[in-house]
Amino acid sequence: MSEASERPRTAVVTGAATGIGRAIAFQLHHDGYAVAINDIGREGAEKVAAEIVAAGGRACAVPGDVSDPAFADQMIADAVEALGPLAVLVANAGINIIKPFLEFEEKDLERIFRINVFGVFYCVQAAARVMIAQGQGGKIINAASAGGKRGYELLGAYSATKFATVSITQTAALEFAKHGITVNSYCPGAIDTGMWEMIDETIGGINNVARGETLKARVAKIPLGRVGYPSDVARLVSFLASEKADYMTGQSLVVDGGVILS
Ligand SMILES: NC(=O)c1ccc[n+]([C@@H]2O[C@H](COP(=O)([O-])OP(=O)(O)OC[C@H]3O[C@@H](n4cnc5c(N)ncnc54)[C@H](O)[C@@H]3O)[C@@H](O)[C@H]2O)c1
Repeated sequence: MSEASERPRTAVVTGAATGIGRAIAFQLHHDGYAVAINDIGREGAEKVAAEIVAAGGRACAVPGDVSDPAFADQMIADAVEALGPLAVLVANAGINIIKPFLEFEEKDLERIFRINVFGVFYCVQAAARVMIAQGQGGKIINAASAGGKRGYELLGAYSATKFATVSITQTAALEFAKHGITVNSYCPGAIDTGMWEMIDETIGGINNVARGETLKARVAKIPLGRVGYPSDVARLVSFLASEKADYMTGQSLVVDGGVILS
């Protein structure tokens, strides 16, 4: 067996039933990984795994809630048992809650921090434990956001969770470097997924504008002149997961058509 074929080739992608996570799962399949598909919705995770298998790939579903630390460990163990040694974790699962700053309640903050911060933290811990034990390094890639680089109106809680993800990325990068594990994040702008449909509808409701108008106004500010697609993010993740990014760690890269500058 060649050295290349002995390298771990399993990737775990959380929140991969839809949107950005689904595109990342298919991209990593195209890049030659066996992909474990997590989502809180079992049906969605199983569907994406079946689609990858039907396309000739290796995949399995590992459905469950990433904000449960015991589940995070179990998810990684199940993925390794089904598909082989772990090469890549993409901690993609996340939610958004849109409200004026003064209207956020304790239950909103608990919910969004539990999934976006605790969930990323637990999955990074679970993946790193296994990668360290394997002794062959690895790539950990987290979903942050342009909202993790600057605050946005009505996204007070979400932005706070994504700043936290940038921080988790830096600390984990420092602690795991000696094990050959790199840790980076992607920071998308407005990407055309179910999450942005919800943002458009909710902000439209608060500002009393019709459906589609909020996204249209955001796109008008994007220097590259279009909304982002899940594939735009998946290609960045493909790079971060590859050996081309071997000398990068602790970075949170913006993929937003330039809107953060506007
Ligand atoms: N769409 C954007 O414009 C955008 C911009 C910046 C960052 N992001 C981030 O990218 C990631 C993916 O976003 P998306 O737009 O594809 O969102 P999405 O809502 O379309 O998909 C998110 C997926 O995560 C799953 N999920 C939610 N909670 C979960 C949990 N506790 N455990 C497991 N799975 C869970 C959902 O079921 C869903 O399938 C998120 O972390 C999001 O914050 C998205």
